[in-house]
Amino acid sequence: MSRTWGITQAVDLAEGHGQLTAMMAIPLPPVPAGARAGPVQVRATILQVRTAGAYREFTVHAPGVVPGAEPGQFVTLRVGGESSAMPLRRAFALSGVDGDALSVVVAAHGAGTRWIFERGPGDVLDLIGPLGRPFPPPPTGAAALLVAGGYGAAPFVGLAQRLTAAGHPVAAVLGSATADRLYAVRELASLTRVLVVTTEDGSAGRTGRVTDAAPELLPGASVVYACGPMPMLRAVAAQAAAYGLTCHVSVEEAMACGIGVCMTCVLPVVGVDGTSRFLRSCVDGPVFDAAKVRFDDIGRLPDDLHGAAAMRATR
Ligand SMILES: Cc1cc2nc3c(=O)[nH]c(=O)nc-3n(C[C@H](O)[C@H](O)[C@H](O)COP(=O)(O)OP(=O)(O)OC[C@H]3O[C@@H](n4cnc5c(N)ncnc54)[C@H](O)[C@@H]3O)c2cc1C
Ligand code: FES
Repeated sequence: MSRTWGITQAVDLAEGHGQLTAMMAIPLPPVPAGARAGPVQVRATILQVRTAGAYREFTVHAPGVVPGAEPGQFVTLRVGGESSAMPLRRAFALSGVDGDALSVVVAAHGAGTRWIFERGPGDVLDLIGPLGRPFPPPPTGAAALLVAGGYGAAPFVGLAQRLTAAGHPVAAVLGSATADRLYAVRELASLTRVLVVTTEDGSAGRTGRVTDAAPELLPGASVVYACGPMPMLRAVAAQAAAYGLTCHVSVEEAMACGIGVCMTCVLPVVGVDGTSRFLRSCVDGPVFDAAKVRFDDIGRLPDDLHGAAAMRATR
């Protein structure tokens, strides 16, 4: 398995919005011998912070995390420092790995992500990862369409690198409300045969949403990968289904523990046996077969999903 995907010298910034805010080379020890492939908790030193439009991309030294990491997985970060009143970790998709370093892209949302925004090179983050299940590979030679909303493009640089290296034709649609909320445009342009950019206000690319552009590219695809807000995933899943395509969605359900203990992140999914259950998006996902996700019932307690049996995870 390659230990490099996503982080490159030309770390991709939304077109015209990239600005290097800080960079510092910090000498750090190599990854410990015997590092295992699975989630580990590390003190991750921030190596570099870049501003990418409305986002900040943090590259951290996280020995032991990278060996098991795959595109589609995520890490969680403790926020607020040692005496924090914020007990819950925050989840972020892996946007790249390189050697012992990994990167995440952060949008300032609430108190936790604003705290991360204030961190700089040399600061240490308490990080757990890699977590969750990655994007499954497509069948040999299958053409892939990647559809991302905003920072949903974060896991797609690594995925596109993997797919192109394996000989898959890759196309992508990246969309956001405004140009400063696009991510990885330049890098995905270099990794894809066709790239369409959409913004709702027309400040970059075509005016509209990813779902306005996706139908042009769906006929040439065999498999669809989607990452972004739930309404977007639901719409892309419906479009892919209309073309009879397999669609893998990476969901962003609110998480508390991130390790499968608390059941905060559950969503209703039809299992291989045809029975629906609440699956935990942190350990059973965040990537799911879109055809199995009951989008209409997310956030609800459907009549067929009561009791302990509904919580027994079986994909
Ligand atoms: C698998 C996964 C991958 C993610 N990848 C990214 C990423 O690459 N970049 C990025 O900027 N954000 C990402 N997020 C969303 C990010 O975790 C939330 O924006 C963040 O938890 C909000 O924390 P806050 O303190 O700023 O906001 P607050 O609203 O104060 O958060 C309070 C709590 O609510 C929950 N929460 C709030 N908003 C969200 C949300 N949108 N999604 C999930 N939980 C939420 C969290 O559990 C958090 O502990 C991801 C979430 C998940 C589940
Ligand atoms: S966040 Fe606790 S089980 Fe998923």
